[in-house]
Amino acid sequence: MGKIVEVLPSGADLISRSLTLVQEKITEAIAQRGICTIALSGGSTPKALYAAIATQNLPWEKIHVFWGDERYVPPDHPDSNQKMARQAWLERVNIPSRNIHPMPTAAGNPTADAAQHQTELEEFFSLSAGELPIFDIVLLGMGDDGHTASLFPYTEALQVSDRLVTVGNKDGQPRLTFTVPLINNARYVLFMVAGVNKQAALAEVFAQEADAIAYPARLIQPQGELWWLLDESAARNLNLV
Ligand code: 6PG
Repeated sequence: MGKIVEVLPSGADLISRSLTLVQEKITEAIAQRGICTIALSGGSTPKALYAAIATQNLPWEKIHVFWGDERYVPPDHPDSNQKMARQAWLERVNIPSRNIHPMPTAAGNPTADAAQHQTELEEFFSLSAGELPIFDIVLLGMGDDGHTASLFPYTEALQVSDRLVTVGNKDGQPRLTFTVPLINNARYVLFMVAGVNKQAALAEVFAQEADAIAYPARLIQPQGELWWLLDESAARNLNLV
């Protein structure tokens, strides 16, 4: 399925549009399957969306929240994606704690924690060996180097295809991340990209030909819907047809 690209006048318009789309997809998932599974991204752009979601009246008991990646720090660390989403959103709504499924970072060994989260996913989705879960929604940002989740350029994580969760690496700092096959198995993937500093990477990600290892967001080609919400700063100079 091809990608849908929308360019919004400002970052605020981008958040407003992403809120509308995410609410639609949450409602659709619950109507069709009784629950919605959503995987969150870190970053400043998605954080504004989480604060907006927290103002909505949604059936929180039917929404299960996961993370697509996590910095390998304790959950109370200022860099924690879990901490960011809890403060911006989850602590402000009446969502059961059993519906929140953070990536574990307590083992002191990222590989062990990645394996534990894999087991948690397999159990939650009742997967048979080798089966991929189908997340209803995966939210993603994109770094100015073209990374997404914690899939960074030229790293081994980009090649991992036999697991759901692997260890990413940013400048020597370990992270946990969904693998490309897991993200690509989602029903709905939404990128939110704002800021002039993203222009160059976006041009490479959207180019007909470019090295996906250098610009990992190119690897995200989901079986379901792929949406890119860009602000005008990020989208400038892109030949969007
Ligand atoms: C993280 C994110 C990462 C983020 C991008 C974009 O853990 O930081 O998962 O992939 O989404 O770096 O972040 P901004 O939207 O803040 O530029």
